Amino acid sequence: MEKTLIVSKIKNGIVIDHIPAGKALNVLKVLGLRGTEGYRISLVMNVESKKLGRKDIVKIENKYLSKQELNLIALIAPTATINVIKDYEVVEKYKVSLPNVVTGLIKCPNPTCISRKQNEPVTSKFYVLKSDKIVLECHYCGTMINGEEVEKYITI
Ligand code: CTP
Ligand code: ZN
Repeated sequence: MEKTLIVSKIKNGIVIDHIPAGKALNVLKVLGLRGTEGYRISLVMNVESKKLGRKDIVKIENKYLSKQELNLIALIAPTATINVIKDYEVVEKYKVSLPNVVTGLIKCPNPTCISRKQNEPVTSKFYVLKSDKIVLECHYCGTMINGEEVEKYITI
């Protein structure tokens, strides 16, 4: 039994749990949350976790996540668990997972890739080769992006 909760339970919203330690701010960033939107947000960073050693947790009240937002979280935090909270109860719990193909969202690192040409109506498209340790491969030029560098290429 936990002796105390670092941050209190929330009434309604989402709890993004099991985020790799130190990545909570990156998760907020890909969700486009800067704090000025008015959501009540609690962050817990570098706390003990049985599964991960250390982990981060993000609680966002009165917000729910779109499929695209879940994909973005999976890119940053493949171990994350999403808990949907209604009236203080966890009514849904699932692990994030990446689709086999990610379109848009990521810019190809190769400056000569057709998906980077201006005035070219080509949306970026990446194949997800491994989803435990992420590797993405550009559909157009074959350039690979690994999990550690993927954040640099997120376009949101
Ligand atoms: N939580 C919350 N507010 C609630 C209910 C739950 O902030 N009203 C948080 C808990 O603090 C925890 C997460 O949501 O960080 C998941 O809650 P729960 O399923 O009760 O915890 P565990 O069983 O420990 O989760 P898991 O098995 O996924 O580790
Ligand atoms: Zn490319």
